[in-house]
Amino acid sequence: MATQLGKPMRWRALALGAFVACCCSAFGLVRLAAAADDAEDSPALPANDQVIEANTEQMMSDGKRTFRYATFGDESWWGGTLGLHRAIEGSRFGGVGPGVSPATALAVGLKVDVDSLPPQLVAAIKNGKVDLNDPATTLGLLQLNAVVGVTGFFDSQGNLSSVGIQCALCHSSVDNSLAPGIGHRLDGWANRDLNVGAIVALSPNLTPIATLLGVDVPTVLKVLNSWGPGRFDAELELDGKAFRPDGTTSAVLIPPAFGLAGVNMHTWTGWGSVTYWNAFVANLEMHGQGTFFDPRLNDASKFPVAAAAGFGNVTGDADRITSKLAALQFYQLAIPAPQPPAGSFDLAAAQRGQTVFSGQGKCASCHVPPLYTEPGWNMHAPADICVDDFQASRSPDGRYRTSPLKGLWSHSQGGFYHDGRFATLGAVVDHYNACMNLGLSAQQRSDLVQYLDSL
Ligand code: HEC
Ligand code: HEC
Repeated sequence: MATQLGKPMRWRALALGAFVACCCSAFGLVRLAAAADDAEDSPALPANDQVIEANTEQMMSDGKRTFRYATFGDESWWGGTLGLHRAIEGSRFGGVGPGVSPATALAVGLKVDVDSLPPQLVAAIKNGKVDLNDPATTLGLLQLNAVVGVTGFFDSQGNLSSVGIQCALCHSSVDNSLAPGIGHRLDGWANRDLNVGAIVALSPNLTPIATLLGVDVPTVLKVLNSWGPGRFDAELELDGKAFRPDGTTSAVLIPPAFGLAGVNMHTWTGWGSVTYWNAFVANLEMHGQGTFFDPRLNDASKFPVAAAAGFGNVTGDADRITSKLAALQFYQLAIPAPQPPAGSFDLAAAQRGQTVFSGQGKCASCHVPPLYTEPGWNMHAPADICVDDFQASRSPDGRYRTSPLKGLWSHSQGGFYHDGRFATLGAVVDHYNACMNLGLSAQQRSDLVQYLDSL
């Protein structure tokens, strides 16, 4: 890996050296000299290749920053409209209610980025010297920009004046290196601990959501509290359907946002490409300020809430989203699925399971390695996989997207399939065995599970 990374790094040094030489000759000479040393074993890149290299670097850093830190102006919704920051600070700091302590924040699945904490604070947390039951500590963490996916805005007196959210809120976790919920960022991981509904339900003013959905505030609260950890319902604000016919929540599992390069249609039900969905989410779900266009949402019979609210054609004075979409997509596609931890599966069984996956199990006919989804149009009618059409019918195409399977081990919490209907991979395999009449033996099924755990 190190040698693979070595080359582009030197190329970048070259491009940078050349750039600096033009603008600032004294420093530039030093850079060029260093670059010349490096160039011995790697020839200088042609000019246009250098442009592409530099662009790659720029897109990566811009995209990462957007994914982690951009609120797209959505603080005007979360703070300004719903007043969520007032619930976070609590009445002691001028807000409402008891406030949100770090212990409460961690309990609803929020994560803390250890790399944003000064060393003294890390040491104090290690030694149990930080009061995790005091909302003041949460405000301190927000001031350090250390709460993953949440940005606090502070006025000149140091009071919390608003709060906004980021992609990282739902699609990042941490490695728990310091304590449970506190560690280094894991971008792209599905945060299956996060109770989005419980967090939104803290907002002092839910009337705007009630008005949008055409219901009362107690109903909004009932819906938000029905989601549970690891789930969110992106279609609620389109069709107003909060519950499945069996009375359980219509919120789906938060999917990972890694391992998506090469995958055509995205989301459980294939709404569009990564960049389509990013624009959708930033505008319609996060309530950022931007431009969004999708005439499919003007279908008032399928999407009554969206059609009435004009979600199919969003324009505004300020657009803080569109200019970020290119780099955001670039960064997301660069996030690989994580490797399973050593010893987390039985290698010999996994190897036998691979044979089942591509042979008798017929899995590879849809989950085509190494993408583990179909190259091309990766969508299926519900009957193809023997499931009901409730969630599929809430999307434009009425189908389910073949899930890419890499990194499955990292999001087993909450179960599998869009609604977590299968608690374990064993249950998924049993489902296919029955649905497709595969006739897999108990041994083959358990080998197949080991293979899935190895992806
Ligand atoms: C409140 C939680 C939440 C936030 C914030 C959020 N997402 Fe998502 N994301 C979801 C859920 C839930 C889905 C699945 C939606 C569905 O299928 O109905 C999803 C789906 C996706 C997918 C599709 C994954 C796949 O397997 O195809 C991508 C890509 C994605 N989100 C990226 C983003 C980006 C980029 C942002 C920031 C602009 C973002 N999300 C913000 C919850 C969230
Ligand atoms: C006809 C195409 C097709 C075949 C064949 C197929 N799958 Fe799937 N698979 C899908 C679709 C579509 C989904 C998405 C279901 C959903 O979102 O509810 C899926 C989802 C999954 C998931 C859940 C992923 C997640 O993130 O929750 C697993 C695991 C899986 N399949 C494994 C397998 C295995 C193992 C086999 C072979 C025994 C197999 N699949 C055969 C189409 C297929």
